[in-house]
Amino acid sequence: MVKPLDADALRVGLERHSYLADRGLAVSLGLAMALHRPLLVEGEPGVGKTELARTAAKMLSAELIRLTCYEGIDAANALYEWNYPRQLLHARAAQDGNVPGRVAELYAPEFLSERPILRAVRQGSKAVLLVDEIDRADEEFEAFLLEVLADHAVTIPEIGTITAPSPPLVILTSNRTRELHDALVRRCLYHWIDYPDAEREVAIIRTRAPEVGDGLARSVADAVRRLRGLDLTKPPGPAEAIDWARAITLLGADGVYGEAAAATIGTAVKNRDDLDRVRREMPDVLGA
Ligand SMILES: Nc1ncnc2c1ncn2[C@@H]1O[C@H](COP(=O)(O)OP(=O)(O)O)[C@@H](O)[C@H]1O
Ligand SMILES: [Mg+2]
Repeated sequence: MVKPLDADALRVGLERHSYLADRGLAVSLGLAMALHRPLLVEGEPGVGKTELARTAAKMLSAELIRLTCYEGIDAANALYEWNYPRQLLHARAAQDGNVPGRVAELYAPEFLSERPILRAVRQGSKAVLLVDEIDRADEEFEAFLLEVLADHAVTIPEIGTITAPSPPLVILTSNRTRELHDALVRRCLYHWIDYPDAEREVAIIRTRAPEVGDGLARSVADAVRRLRGLDLTKPPGPAEAIDWARAITLLGADGVYGEAAAATIGTAVKNRDDLDRVRREMPDVLGA
């Protein structure tokens, strides 16, 4: 009989490591684990995409292997590189000892510099592979990734194919700066992480910053919710809410108003035009 997925247990597991997920996210994570499918999480910056992978690794007592994507990242950055200086030293040593060094020797596993994906394949289910901000990489890289994710295997021409002993949990994140390739998306389970509701935001603030009082946490949660409604270029996420609450606590205030709010606004609003807008539309927070 198939064991039913216990999303609540997963939620509690994540919570034990200070990550507060809603039930939908816990179900998605549980399905990714049970079906051995990569989980693609999208959402605005700061909603906890990267942290989800970190926390999942802690919860599973697995190694977190993080591949941070950027424009121009290629297979060598992600998979492996031959350690050229070591190969050279070995070749010289062979020459000096007048041992006929064979070229094949130079392509032995000890000269291989492991990059995140190769490491994840070797570790298998002892690892959580985080492919962070995949939307920053180029489309060719997505195609390459698709191959690896399909077989949980990598082929190194000089050595052969290395297959994961058991599939690692793979979490991809995207800030949605561009659409991802259809084929990649289809291979993954998908979850959109929304901003938390007010209750959860308060809980997140208080979990991550226990020094913040309940009243202030509520006041900050309310203020960031209003900021998100202003159509800012960089709306604050939970990460900013946490910083803001911490900053106001440090200034000894108990809510988002007056001097403390104005002095700390830079923890939550990080764009000049956005600041002007807040000044206009939320004068209670940012008095003129
Ligand atoms: N659901 C959550 N539970 C606990 N902390 C959270 C949650 N969401 C966000 N955070 C906090 O916000 C920070 C930023 O989250 P992060 O994962 O870096 O965001 P993203 O990758 O989506 O931009 C985390 O380090 C954590 O402190
Ligand atoms: Mg992130």
